[in-house]
Amino acid sequence: MTPLWCVIPAAGRGTRVGGDCPKQYLPLAGRALILHTLERLAGHPRIAGLMVALAADDERWPGLDHLAGKPVLTTTGGGERADSVLAGLRALPGGVGEGEFVLVHDAARPCVRAADIERLVEVASVGEGGLLGAPLRDTLKRADERGCSILTEPREQRWRAFTPQMFRRGQLVAAIEAAVRDGVIVSDEAMAMERAGHAPRLVEGAEDNIKVTTAADFALAEFLLTRTT
Ligand code: CTP
Ligand code: MG
Repeated sequence: MTPLWCVIPAAGRGTRVGGDCPKQYLPLAGRALILHTLERLAGHPRIAGLMVALAADDERWPGLDHLAGKPVLTTTGGGERADSVLAGLRALPGGVGEGEFVLVHDAARPCVRAADIERLVEVASVGEGGLLGAPLRDTLKRADERGCSILTEPREQRWRAFTPQMFRRGQLVAAIEAAVRDGVIVSDEAMAMERAGHAPRLVEGAEDNIKVTTAADFALAEFLLTRTT
């Protein structure tokens, strides 16, 4: 299988971290968080190039155009994550065919393991694509408005969804466009594909592929970075 392009949505504001600087540009082990993510992706033999979706007013992008010998392109993202992913998919080089698989990976997940990317590509390319995730481990509670537990939800067959997610370029564009048309905000690519009638393959990955979401996650990500490859 020929190496795949990867779209990286990086146009978020990081409101849950807080502060003026979007989280992807905050320092992690001495370098901007996004650089760790991009290096892991570019260093992977399954990946051909990176398409990074940046905020329209981004002044912090370091102007990279190559990493580990792979092209790094940028485009302008949008108001929701799905808008940024769609912009990235549309801006991919013309040589990336409609029927080709592409990966999508959050800029905010710097600890993704190379072996998990490898397994996702191997397993999900046999069918119509899929995503990394992990089955729920904890008991799941339904809360009321007061924050009190009123029900224990079944844990069976419930997964947490991570990235990368991998789908065929044309199908994914059509699925996200349909969601946008219907006024539905999809939180990941798999949700768009499910709405379009597909059943993305869930590929179990390491739980340390965390999405850096709050200020406290930086310390954890820094710890994990040194222990995962
Ligand atoms: N993202 C994006 N465009 C948006 C919103 C999010 O490209 N309009 C990207 C983020 O930059 C991040 C990824 O999607 O890499 C996952 O989103 P999330 O973790 O929610 O990041 P933010 O939206 O930046 O954070 P918050 O929700 O706390 O504001
Ligand atoms: Mg967000």
